[in-house]
Amino acid sequence: MTALAGQPPPLLDEGRRPGVRLRVVQMADAEGLAALYEANRDYLRPWEPERDDSYFTVDGQRDNLHGLVAAHARGEMWPGVILVDGQVAGRITLNNVLRGPLRSCFVGYWVARAHSGRGVASEALRQVLDVAFDDLGLHRVEAFTRVDNHASQRVLERNGFTAVGTSRRHIHVDGRWHDERFFERLAPWDDGVTLAPPG
Ligand SMILES: CC(C)(COP(=O)(O)OP(=O)(O)OC[C@H]1O[C@@H](n2cnc3c(N)ncnc32)[C@H](O)[C@@H]1OP(=O)(O)O)[C@@H](O)C(=O)NCCC(=O)NCCS
Repeated sequence: MTALAGQPPPLLDEGRRPGVRLRVVQMADAEGLAALYEANRDYLRPWEPERDDSYFTVDGQRDNLHGLVAAHARGEMWPGVILVDGQVAGRITLNNVLRGPLRSCFVGYWVARAHSGRGVASEALRQVLDVAFDDLGLHRVEAFTRVDNHASQRVLERNGFTAVGTSRRHIHVDGRWHDERFFERLAPWDDGVTLAPPG
């Protein structure tokens, strides 16, 4: 499961839908991600945490990726890149992986403006749910979206998430606190009793 620098992790779901693939981040993504974050800086500002200028540089992305690769190795998260026709087009992450009696995580994602509106996020979420429920053996994936982020809510609904409610003043982005809708999706193998997926 660990992504080592210089050794590309395997692609997921090869052939299930042409064009969109996921894999774990690797150190070699620093240049591509720095360029993509910089090109989408204004686009992502309403939805992403505030970032230092260094975050948009190759060195800043190397620092970020070091942390992600290490957290992945510890089993705390599954930090993915979204590839469209082999090019990095966004990020999708299973964060805060909890074991024990919860077996849950929450998912976050973004897709570059140039690729938006073509089903990329919906397909990426579909694929990362397989990672969560099958590979990681989790029982629940949770998600929060700003109440005004209708595109993201569609992506969740298309993937079988249901809205639980609204969390007030849940996230501080774009200069203020925002209410967020809280969504959940249970594993397809859930039967109300079984702790982990069969096999
Ligand atoms: C939200 C985001 C990930 C969607 O990515 P995407 O690849 O364009 O998503 P998809 O094409 O798979 O699906 C988008 C859906 O939202 C719908 N949609 C797009 N803009 C919309 C809007 N303003 N209002 C309502 N629905 C909208 C699309 O019609 C589509 O639904 P449909 O297929 O049922 O018609 C992308 O816009 C993004 O990265 N935004 C900035 C970061 C962000 O919001 N991240 C999520 C934080 S929770």
